Amino acid sequence: MNIYKNIRVIFIGAPGTGKGTQSELLTKKYRVPKISVGELLRKLVNNNISNDINSGELISDSIVCNIVKIRIYKRDCNNGFILDGFPRNINQAQYLTINNIKINFVFNIKLSYKIIIKRLLGRRIHNLSGRIYHIKYNPPLVSDLDNITGEKLSSRKDDNVDIIKHRLKVHEKQIGDIVNYYKQEVKLGNILLYREIDGSKPINLVHAEIINSINHFS
Ligand code: AP5
Repeated sequence: MNIYKNIRVIFIGAPGTGKGTQSELLTKKYRVPKISVGELLRKLVNNNISNDINSGELISDSIVCNIVKIRIYKRDCNNGFILDGFPRNINQAQYLTINNIKINFVFNIKLSYKIIIKRLLGRRIHNLSGRIYHIKYNPPLVSDLDNITGEKLSSRKDDNVDIIKHRLKVHEKQIGDIVNYYKQEVKLGNILLYREIDGSKPINLVHAEIINSINHFS
């Protein structure tokens, strides 16, 4: 059941903290679309974009903001959406506000870099659907195959130690401004909640904490 009528959630944790995993779970629970910006970008056939993603650089704001706006303005987002991996800098955060794209809940999943690296090295994804697995913590029913289609899973090209470290540095540079921005938005009454979540707990417990936070406002 959709407890909170218009659920508009943002996940802003570092790479590998579990944003995509938790977005998938919220999507199932609230029956609103998950918008994974990384996933949308990976589906674009564009060599410059692929090269930037594979080397851990951010894609330009103009491209990313446009993709997000087009997706959010689709009808299936009328009752809400789960936004995974956007905003990644202050311009992108302000872009949502300027375009009157209302957000209710902002979750910042926190995790040590040591655990992040373990998680990303063991991650497997189903390319077409974006379904996320981990060889140890969230394994598929049959090793290396997607639970729904039975198709082969793969690793992401940007999931190697050097690129992960670079992605974390890129994240570090931007996250402070984003956090300050959303704390201020809460004070102004523009969003309901900014909350830091301990991402080191098992997937179901992290999910439960997020749901509890949302239910508090229902
Ligand atoms: P994107 O695809 O968004 O990658 P990311 O931000 O680096 O985040 P990840 O997808 O790596 O991690 P996640 O937090 O979703 O973790 P997950 O749930 O998979 O972006 C990729 C690239 O696209 C960027 O580098 C950039 O180039 C570009 N891009 C994207 N957005 C952009 C933007 N707004 N502006 C500009 N450029 C942009 O979990 C990781 C693993 O851990 C999985 O194996 C999972 O099964 C496992 N796991 C999850 N939770 C738990 C748990 N609680 N316990 C144990 N294991 C867990």
